[in-house]
Amino acid sequence: MTVKDHLIIFDTTLRDGEQSPGASMTRDEKVRIAKALERMRVDVIEAGFPIASPGDFEAVKAVAAAVKESRVCGLARALDKDLDRAGEALKGANAGRIHTFIATSPIHMEKKLRMSPDQVLEQAVYAVKRARRYTDDVEFSPEDAGRSDLDFLCRVLEAVIDAGASTLNIPDTVGYNIPDQFGSLIANLRERIPNSDKAIFSVHCHNDLGLAVANSLAAVRNGARQVECTINGLGERAGNAALEEIVMTVRTRQDLFECETTLDTTQIMNCSRLVSGITGFAVQPNKAVVGANAFAHESGIHQDGVLKNRETYEIMRAQDVGWSENRMVLGKHSGRNAFRARLQELGIELGSEEELNSTFSRFKDLADKKHEIFDEDLQALVTDTTLDA
Ligand code: KIV
Ligand code: ZN
Repeated sequence: MTVKDHLIIFDTTLRDGEQSPGASMTRDEKVRIAKALERMRVDVIEAGFPIASPGDFEAVKAVAAAVKESRVCGLARALDKDLDRAGEALKGANAGRIHTFIATSPIHMEKKLRMSPDQVLEQAVYAVKRARRYTDDVEFSPEDAGRSDLDFLCRVLEAVIDAGASTLNIPDTVGYNIPDQFGSLIANLRERIPNSDKAIFSVHCHNDLGLAVANSLAAVRNGARQVECTINGLGERAGNAALEEIVMTVRTRQDLFECETTLDTTQIMNCSRLVSGITGFAVQPNKAVVGANAFAHESGIHQDGVLKNRETYEIMRAQDVGWSENRMVLGKHSGRNAFRARLQELGIELGSEEELNSTFSRFKDLADKKHEIFDEDLQALVTDTTLDA
């Protein structure tokens, strides 16, 4: 049996997802989402952009303190003040990463940064070295790589590896590429950069043409081993690559990929509902994997097929992404056993009987005020208990 590579899932719901107009989150909301991502075994959680505001600095700090299993990352431009602020915010992290970036496309360098390519290269190297003062885990992104010159990209990436970057993230910042082109870009970079084996190639695709997931997967088939994505595809403009679609494609089409993720996919629906509830961004009913109709069958022919054998019209099992077939509705009449069972289904372990009792009594208080208790309410109850402890 061949051992497959590990595909690192880097979730940026709390950073790029939050950059979606109207999706900003409070510190406590970010901690709740981060804990749900950690339960799902996401490898890296990008918690925010610490220089952006005092609130975001505090949020990254709180996520860094609350999350123990996943790596916590903070974003920084290639500027001293950003890098120092990110380093400070991540001080309490069990495993922290600084993600620094500078644009490399002609239009961004000339019109936005007003810097020459040589100045950009020098600044990139400087930033990576400064980030290394705070952590060994530094990720570098040449922003708008999807519209950058290949020779220049190779020069910059080779230099930042030498400066100490261990992850090279290739963003298609404006969602301009198409899959075979983006896949070839990754293959070319890996082939042409002499020290490319010293770093992990990552991709970060935007969905302006609806190709973010397809582009990310093409990159993975060409050797990328980290994918940056968001729950429900939340993100700037048309969004980022949707985590649930990436993960379920790699899981469902194992025959096509030389790598695999270690995510607990049964947590996908929890995360989807939580993010949608907190941001107020509804999930479209026909959205792949997490939409209300993703496993619904209306036509008689399909219903007949599914009743005889689900695989006639289903390529994955609803339960594998966290849809429960006979979902019990929890409310003020529910008992302790139903409550405990639902927590177990959500993968939430309460340490002791006292913890269960106190969470159950908080649940009853909430149930008096609210008609129906959703999974995200349960997660909030548990997170609040954990924060109090
Ligand atoms: O889209 C983009 O280029 C980004 C970078 C900061 C990675 O979000
Ligand atoms: Zn982005």
